[in-house]
Amino acid sequence: MTAPRIAHAGLAAKSRTAAEAAVLIRDGMTVGMSGFTGSGYPKAVPLALADRITAAHAAGDPFRVKIWTGASTGPELDGALAKADGIEYRLPYNSDPIARERINAGQMHYFDMHLSQVAPMAWQGFLGELDVAVVEVTGITANGDLIPSASVGNNKTWIDRAKSVILEVNRWQNPALEGMHDIYYGTALPPHRQPIPLVRADQRIGQPTFRCDPAKVIAVVETDAPDRNAPFSPPDATAHAIAGHLLDFLGHEVRQGRLPASLLPLQSGVGNIANAVLTGLIDAPFQDMVAYTEVIQDGMLDLLDSGKLRMASATAFSLSPQAATRLNADMGRYRDRMLLRPQEISNHPELVRRLGCIAMNGLIEADIYGNVNSTHLMGSRIQNGIGGSGDFARNAYLSIFMTPSTAKGGKISAIVPHCSHVDHINQDVQVIVTEQGLADLRGLAPRQRAEQIIARCAHPDYRPMLADYYARAMKGSFGLQSPMLPGEALAWHQRYMDTGTMRG
Ligand code: COA
Repeated sequence: MTAPRIAHAGLAAKSRTAAEAAVLIRDGMTVGMSGFTGSGYPKAVPLALADRITAAHAAGDPFRVKIWTGASTGPELDGALAKADGIEYRLPYNSDPIARERINAGQMHYFDMHLSQVAPMAWQGFLGELDVAVVEVTGITANGDLIPSASVGNNKTWIDRAKSVILEVNRWQNPALEGMHDIYYGTALPPHRQPIPLVRADQRIGQPTFRCDPAKVIAVVETDAPDRNAPFSPPDATAHAIAGHLLDFLGHEVRQGRLPASLLPLQSGVGNIANAVLTGLIDAPFQDMVAYTEVIQDGMLDLLDSGKLRMASATAFSLSPQAATRLNADMGRYRDRMLLRPQEISNHPELVRRLGCIAMNGLIEADIYGNVNSTHLMGSRIQNGIGGSGDFARNAYLSIFMTPSTAKGGKISAIVPHCSHVDHINQDVQVIVTEQGLADLRGLAPRQRAEQIIARCAHPDYRPMLADYYARAMKGSFGLQSPMLPGEALAWHQRYMDTGTMRG
């Protein structure tokens, strides 16, 4: 006989259907949902809420809610609620295409923020009150503690801060997840904040479950539904080339004595290129690596399987459907080599700096001085959000950004004279790598950086145009610290919007 998922009698008695639970959420409420990069998000209540919202709109009644999450979720949450035009405001990271369209159409407010800062800001009170938390869990223990699901995200904070809590107990999540989580309850606001006692990526500093006052729980909904993540594309020649340059560079750093042979704790960002780099590490000469990162994606699972990665600490899984099924089928075997923590800990600047992480993140565009845009297309359209890239980039031992040198089939150069939007200032960007090569910017002044980035990272189709811009800026700029022609700074982006290509 399998153990019951809801072992607490009082909470079992609060069992409701998703539709009954959704009735407890009303127009104008702020709802803190679980979910981080497509894992551990509630799957039934948001769908039922979207139905309620659609019915209310059909009857001419207003119904929109404010949604706080850990990061991106899945189509049953962001997709369904955005489709119903039910989200008035959302934070933080989003990658849902329907929500993205609504944001870019000006129909939804989106507060994009550093992921490590969401929980502290919720505690500080700047975000307003949290009416209800809707949190997916793997199970409920006999004393009412909650066994977390495939992501931790901000769930601890939502459960603590919300006036009431709706739980989704998802039978699809493997019970062997129990014991994988490390929930730290020692954070406080200044002036009472203490150092976080974590000095190794594999260290446990908390407890395996969430505390939750049963009296706050207003409904428990049972589900049996998979996490639905987007699949990764298999690494192509460009991804292989980027991974190759980066791995050569890390090898060089080891030989120079600037990195230990097992490297330092790896942080790997979201997206296909980051995943390809992890896959590339399988054949690299580094052994006994650890990861202190935000998400565990397919490549990290492969790296664990290869034996090269000893353990991974993160806040969530971000796996393709195939990898999620693979992990779920064998959870017991992975459990001792993985740790999931609250995102304020997985991404904490204090810890990233102390551990000396190697941060490897994707970008949308970088300029010739090394400023990086991770979020906006052509300066105004949001793609996803800054996620944890800022938490890691500013505080890492090595801050690396990687990208194909062009986008949209070569019509756009990822290296531009000036970023149309800046998420990471040049001081936070130490290395840029494209399939063309790698620019090591450490210790370089702006003009030295421009020469390196144009020569090593730009695509040959755009290199002469960038060199021409830079040469003219050297003559016509107001100052020569970071030469710039303001009237031309964003001309490349305008040209793309006018003609469909940045090529001159
Ligand atoms: N101009 C216009 N569009 C661009 C572009 C550019 N310079 N660069 C990329 N794009 C478009 C791509 O064409 C693609 O569009 P499509 O979906 O319509 O095909 C989209 O942006 C995503 O690009 P892709 O090449 O698939 O990138 P990716 O999967 O490697 O992701 C980021 C790149 C920057 C979007 C992603 O890394 C991200 O969201 N970063 C911010 C958050 C982060 O770093 N989190 C990690 C912290 S742990």
